[in-house]
Amino acid sequence: MNKTGRIYIDREWKFSEEFSEEMTLPGYDESGMIDVMIPHTVKPMPFHYFDEGIYQMVSTYRRHIHAGKDWKDKAVLLTFEGVAHEATVYVNGKEVITHPCGYTAFTADISSCLDFGNDNVIAVKADSNETLDQPPFGFAIDYMTYGGIYRDVYIEVKSRPYISRTEISTKLFDRYEKDGRRFCRKGAVLAKVYSEGRGCTVTAAVRRKGEEEFSHPSEKEAQEGYTQADVRIDDVELWDVENPALYELRTVLTDASGAVLDERIDTFGFRKAVFKTDGFFLNGRKLKIRGLNRHQSYAYVGYAMPDSMQRLDAQILKNELGVNAVRTSHYPQAQSFIDECDRIGLLVFEEIPGWQHIGGEAWKEKAIDNVRDMIWQNINHPSIILWGVRINESADDDDFYARTNAMAHALDPGRQTGGVRCHRKGSFQEDVFTFNDFSFCGDNDGALRKSSATPDAGRPYLVTEYNGHMFPTKSFDCEDRRCEHMLRHAKVLDAIAGYPDISGSFGWCMSDYNTHRDFGSGDRICYHGVCDMFRNPKLAAYVYAAQQDDVPVLAVSSSMNIGEHPGGNAGKVYIITNADSVRMYRNGELLKEYSSADTEFKNLRHGPIKVDDYIGDALEVYEGMSHKKATEIKALLNGVAEKGMNPGMAFMAKAGLIAAKNRMRMEEAVSLYGKYIGNWGGKVSTYRFEAVKGGKIVKELTVSISTDALIEASANTDALYEGKTYDVALVRLRAVDEHGSLLSFSNDPVTVRTEGPIEIIGPDTIPLNGGMGGVYVRSAGAGSAKLIITDNRGRKIDVPFRIYREDD
Ligand code: GAL
Repeated sequence: MNKTGRIYIDREWKFSEEFSEEMTLPGYDESGMIDVMIPHTVKPMPFHYFDEGIYQMVSTYRRHIHAGKDWKDKAVLLTFEGVAHEATVYVNGKEVITHPCGYTAFTADISSCLDFGNDNVIAVKADSNETLDQPPFGFAIDYMTYGGIYRDVYIEVKSRPYISRTEISTKLFDRYEKDGRRFCRKGAVLAKVYSEGRGCTVTAAVRRKGEEEFSHPSEKEAQEGYTQADVRIDDVELWDVENPALYELRTVLTDASGAVLDERIDTFGFRKAVFKTDGFFLNGRKLKIRGLNRHQSYAYVGYAMPDSMQRLDAQILKNELGVNAVRTSHYPQAQSFIDECDRIGLLVFEEIPGWQHIGGEAWKEKAIDNVRDMIWQNINHPSIILWGVRINESADDDDFYARTNAMAHALDPGRQTGGVRCHRKGSFQEDVFTFNDFSFCGDNDGALRKSSATPDAGRPYLVTEYNGHMFPTKSFDCEDRRCEHMLRHAKVLDAIAGYPDISGSFGWCMSDYNTHRDFGSGDRICYHGVCDMFRNPKLAAYVYAAQQDDVPVLAVSSSMNIGEHPGGNAGKVYIITNADSVRMYRNGELLKEYSSADTEFKNLRHGPIKVDDYIGDALEVYEGMSHKKATEIKALLNGVAEKGMNPGMAFMAKAGLIAAKNRMRMEEAVSLYGKYIGNWGGKVSTYRFEAVKGGKIVKELTVSISTDALIEASANTDALYEGKTYDVALVRLRAVDEHGSLLSFSNDPVTVRTEGPIEIIGPDTIPLNGGMGGVYVRSAGAGSAKLIITDNRGRKIDVPFRIYREDD
């Protein structure tokens, strides 16, 4: 989106939890209001156990602006990127606009209300009641909706006429590849430049993002409505998930004398993204979509987080979770989030706000407006590959959805539509059948066949949710449950990978989130994330991370403590890795080297691998058994390890046969089990795992008995920038043992305090959950600062920050 010439006004707002007409008037006494900065939440919230009523109110924001004398005769455009949920804007007491959507931006030309050369007052009535007659409200919703001016606010001062919007589409000719990167010999940029301006000229030119000069200018006489600019360039690099090449289009509007009236720069990419009957194709290459759903919410502040945190989520998805796509469930998300998806090459399925419920006619009109605004505001993002134009999981409504589809197709013929449903078959009015496939219950097929979900198997198909409520899992659940959660994600991903005609899938979901009383675990949290609320990975996160090859991944599903499992068994233990092989040692002795072919998940590039050998060649080496005997006895002992003391009739019968054949008495078998597996009273067993790739050890893990609990703190950055508003860093916390392994049952509290110009968002005593937690720090000035974390054993960690103030 164009960012030139914006005057951000995120600072110096006054806020009150109340509203009255009087508060919109210029002379209102603001002494009862508090100072706030945008992004702002109307109510800071506890981590959990609070009522969704607390953020529902009609509140007031006020901001003074000086309107320059030179603004006279200009268009003064005031833009709000996001106000939850219905905003009415007043300038000097005069109502200028009402916008009934908390997830789309809106702009008002306020020039006729301004007093030039003087102080002016902008007031915003922000209604965050969930009773509003607009999407997503009207029934239950499985996420909290919060309240306040939570995205940027800015002013642009423009000569008239000006360019209100530029919509870019591209055409590609003669694709070729060079050094693993994709290009086209010719690229055409077709831009619709919207402006009033008869007799004016529109000039458009292109450059690769990061370059100085724009080139290939094309000049057109401005037309009524919009002017179609057409720029052609040679050898364009394509935007792809691997090399997300970005370009910029500059459009300039000049009057008859050649004077520049307006200018804007829009970022875009050259790429072809199409869903076909047999899958999704990006630049002609079939790509299986492997994504996660993301809610834009955060602990304590709900939606109110600045760009850095929005961008961080995109980076976590791509770089830590290794996915190639995200669904912005269930509403358009921040420009900074989607900008980052453009920048790093993360595909986006963006959808209109809504959750299951369809309201009356007025409500539907607003939903149609939301389709328009979503597309107008996001059309140039190369990362967006699909528009969601149904209310998530709503019933069929052919007339309504004929309108949303028609609107999307008219505004953006270059992108396909989807619309997420949870019932099989039904009316299929979109280009892609997008379906939440919750059919997997743990012991059946991981996903439905395309033909049993869609009414028309001859058209494209995409799975948009799975797992979630089918198996909520907390970071502090027992090991078996966390392992099962991980396996369920692997199972569905594996099934989807095995169906060539399914375009891909989005798991539910990236992180745990606060939700309404009707959902979640009773504490107002839905524990459906593969990460916790602070974006710390649960075990299931590693299944996703292991599907990429850029960063080595190695995780083990168990702490190797048999007391954590029923019947004293070792349970199912899995290695999750993207390495070629993993060597498992106990007390320095190699038990087995597992290769990626050992996985039961045959369609995944790197499926979890089950550990099935705790003995190695010990029976031959130390017990003097023949190879044959050792193999049989080993299978028996390893079987008991997984299944425990009550392994079932079939196993017992087989075990009896093996023991008889090898003349082994029960006591002998028990003693071998104790010696090599159970290990009661014995030497501490230390397991080491080495992940090997290309012949080199790329990652190591040690799992042993813990004797200490240490806190690890990792900040996403040590540099904060005070620019248009405050900046935020996330410090993720982990309790680990002396080998660096997570202590999954540490719920110990840590206390945090700051020195220097930073503040803590949320409380200063934080319990860990499942050995993990997080702290958000917010800039409050410039200079050096530190976060001081003290654990409950009195040990301290300093996390340093430097806060830079942007030059004026
Ligand atoms: C879906 C819904 C999501 C979330 C999920 C939980 O039905 O679309 O918003 O509630 O269930 O599994």
